[in-house]
Amino acid sequence: MLKPEIEDGEQTLADPQFRADVLAGLERRPRAIPARWFYDRRGSELFEDITALREYYPTRTETAILERICPEVADIAGRGRAVVEFGSGSSVKTPVLLRCTAPSAYVPIDISGDFLRESSRVLSAAFPDLLVLPFEADFMRPLTLPHTIADTPKLGFFPGSTIGNMIPLMAVDLLRTMRASLGEGAMLLVGMDRIKDEVTLVAAYDDEDGVTAAFNLNLLERINRELDGTIPVDAFAHEARWNDDRARIEMHLVATRDVAFTVDGRPFAIAAGESIHTENSHKYGSRDARILLRSGGWTPIHEWTDPDGLFALYLAEAQAERPAP
Ligand code: AVI
Repeated sequence: MLKPEIEDGEQTLADPQFRADVLAGLERRPRAIPARWFYDRRGSELFEDITALREYYPTRTETAILERICPEVADIAGRGRAVVEFGSGSSVKTPVLLRCTAPSAYVPIDISGDFLRESSRVLSAAFPDLLVLPFEADFMRPLTLPHTIADTPKLGFFPGSTIGNMIPLMAVDLLRTMRASLGEGAMLLVGMDRIKDEVTLVAAYDDEDGVTAAFNLNLLERINRELDGTIPVDAFAHEARWNDDRARIEMHLVATRDVAFTVDGRPFAIAAGESIHTENSHKYGSRDARILLRSGGWTPIHEWTDPDGLFALYLAEAQAERPAP
């Protein structure tokens, strides 16, 4: 998720997709801007800070689960698979998995080439005998993986509960795409955050130090920087809400007074109390997660959680092309 798209102070042409998403998102009702645009350089740094917060349990909980269960994953999946990570391995989780599964190759997939090359260089230095094959691509689309690993069974790795940032329809599409990209005999290890009490959930997305607030508000600063915006950032407040019906945390930026501004020369007016919806983070109970996996073409074969049941890792195998009736 950490993609430094612009350097500090660097003048870059705004990404046309960013402009289109922001203008369309501010126009529509309810207003909403896709969460992928959080991750400019500053946003990526703030996300790193979030992962270390006392209130933000997912990163440390998932890492601890992985450290504990990794030998078991290797026993079930078998060593020597090609590990294919969706998103380049920037975290401490990747080395944990690589150490215990003894893969024949490691293929990190990321849309940001610079970021991919840098994280691959770091991993190659730590695992000098491992064949590392960085693959610059959008993993939301079907991929033809490098020819060298065509006949090697794959172990897909999708940690961090990133799947939770997609609405279920998109999550199922992505799982099916992964199934097609990884091929017959593939396995998938995926992390999903669990439904829990509202106080814990909201605190994880609205920490006392205001780091998540800064992460959310940075989106408005990015719009001002890159799209010639005049948004008065101090007129917006960060809000994290639990939507029980949809089992998700939503992040919003709520106007604290009536505001008028322009973005790329286009005028907008937002009334006090109105919000811009910036992120969904879906949470899955055990049964929900298993249904999601099956809908996406994967048969869950094992589930591991932490002692408090905060987070879960699922190992699943690719369903046969023609399931029995
Ligand atoms: C990247 N993703 C899984 C994080 C999450 O928990 O949904 C992003 C995040 N947003 C606010 N805090 C963390």
